[in-house]
Amino acid sequence: MPKTIKKVAVLTSGGDSPGMNAAIRAVVRTCAYHNVECLGVYRGYEGLIEGDFVVLDARSVKGIINKGGTMLKSARSKEFRTAEGRQEAYKKLKEKGVDGLVVIGGDGSFTGALVFNQEFNFPVMGIPGTIDNDIFGTSHTLGFDTALNTVVDAIDKIRDTASSHNRLFFIEVMGRDVGHIALNCGIAGGAEEILIPEEDLGLERLVESLNKSKKSGKTSSIVIVAEGDKIGKNIFELKDYVDENMEGYDVRVSVLGHMQRGGAPSCFDRVLASRMGVKAVEAMLDGESNYMVGLKNNKMELTPLDSAIKGKTKINLELLRVSDIMST
Ligand code: F6P
Repeated sequence: MPKTIKKVAVLTSGGDSPGMNAAIRAVVRTCAYHNVECLGVYRGYEGLIEGDFVVLDARSVKGIINKGGTMLKSARSKEFRTAEGRQEAYKKLKEKGVDGLVVIGGDGSFTGALVFNQEFNFPVMGIPGTIDNDIFGTSHTLGFDTALNTVVDAIDKIRDTASSHNRLFFIEVMGRDVGHIALNCGIAGGAEEILIPEEDLGLERLVESLNKSKKSGKTSSIVIVAEGDKIGKNIFELKDYVDENMEGYDVRVSVLGHMQRGGAPSCFDRVLASRMGVKAVEAMLDGESNYMVGLKNNKMELTPLDSAIKGKTKINLELLRVSDIMST
């Protein structure tokens, strides 16, 4: 394997996700395996600009594969969006003799990496880390699987109390722009309806569906709402709407919030993170740059960062149909 790269830096950026630690570990250990030095950067691009680095060897990442969050911390850096900020970051990397950067994050973080590469011809490689699963070029982003399991567990618990009291629950899950968490967890949690940003089902359809459920003998119901849903009402307004317009419902709202981003990564996410870390470093050592590693048909593949940023993930329409049939 040709090695022009002697020192790699790794950072986590944007919203954290379970599996980021496992990915840091994989990057560090792959570097160690190939006798390449590795530096961790604290607080994403913020730390890069400030030169907040830590030397990482194989032993310094012990005991983190099972930990949620990110040991390197994460941030959304405004300064890195400026040319001056990026210049400063480049200076800090050069001072430390770093010649390759692995960025673990979402599309915003990848945009920063790409601009940085274009300005300084600095090798960059992306690992997709976000619970939203909204990055083109991989069937799964790091943390998505863990978040699904966390959300399903929460829905199961809410269902217990919903059915004890014959209540209708609106449950809000994360997904600012996409409904992957909502759709999968809605099916797995046995929801009556799933509201996602990609499909505006409209209020009438919701009312119709709730009435149908009631007539069919259901005494309690769960409706999953993605936070970016476009029905035109937020989750509390949905509750008010049902309270004001529909007879005989005892409605409650539960917003799951940031608990969805925490917790120990699932087995799937740990394996995915390990594979992604190995692929990212080895691709870089092979002379590749400006790619994101991703899972496609159970293989590690490279997607140009540009496509990963611009491409859109599509909702699986079959899942919508399955959900419809299951709520009969
Ligand atoms: O990580 C992605 C995401 O979970 C979105 O679904 C959500 O809107 C956002 O993060 C919230 O992030 P923060 O509170 O860090 O701004």
